[in-house]
Amino acid sequence: MARRSVRLLLLLSACMFFSTLAAAEDDEAALLAFKVAATGGISSVLTSWNGSGYCSWEGVRCRGMRRRVVALNLPSQGLTGVLSAAIGNLTSLRTLDLSSNGLNGDIPASLGRLRHLHSLNLSATMPSPDRSLST
Ligand SMILES: *[C@@H]1O[C@H](CO)[C@@H](O)[C@H](O)[C@H]1NC(C)=O
Ligand SMILES: *[C@@H]1O[C@H](CO)[C@@H](O)[C@H](O)[C@H]1NC(C)=O
Ligand SMILES: *[C@@H]1O[C@H](CO)[C@@H](O)[C@H](O)[C@H]1NC(C)=O
Repeated sequence: MARRSVRLLLLLSACMFFSTLAAAEDDEAALLAFKVAATGGISSVLTSWNGSGYCSWEGVRCRGMRRRVVALNLPSQGLTGVLSAAIGNLTSLRTLDLSSNGLNGDIPASLGRLRHLHSLNLSATMPSPDRSLST
């Protein structure tokens, strides 16, 4: 009986371990996709986005054992590409500030997947609907 519950416990912690790894890899992959889309790989701020430990990358804040990204703050960083739909994979994101950049294209629908998002600032970042209509 006791042995069985120990085995169960081991199984459970193995599951938690691997789901932690999976979450961390997903967040890192999403950040890297964001970086490539937003810069074509050539923004100065995002050159610090290299190596392991994405939680210490500039503008990135993580929380918890699962090292989920909870904040992405990159105002005025000269981002010029597009906002990657991969942003919708950062499902623990609470704060997203990409204000005062030069991102083009549409706001990806995947932003709707960010159910914990409570602060979003894209001011002076994406073309305004009015302006894109008139051009
Ligand atoms: C985002 O998540 C989807 C499925 O949930 C996956 O297919 C896709 O590869 C992920 N994208 C990135 C950049 O992690
Ligand atoms: C990686 O980031 C560090 C700062 O975090 C920077 O000093 C270094 O130049 C970067 N390396 C590359 C290859 O961009
Ligand atoms: C959004 O960002 C702009 C430019 O960085 C800033 O002036 C403004 O106060 C921000 N708005 C909010 C609601 O934080």
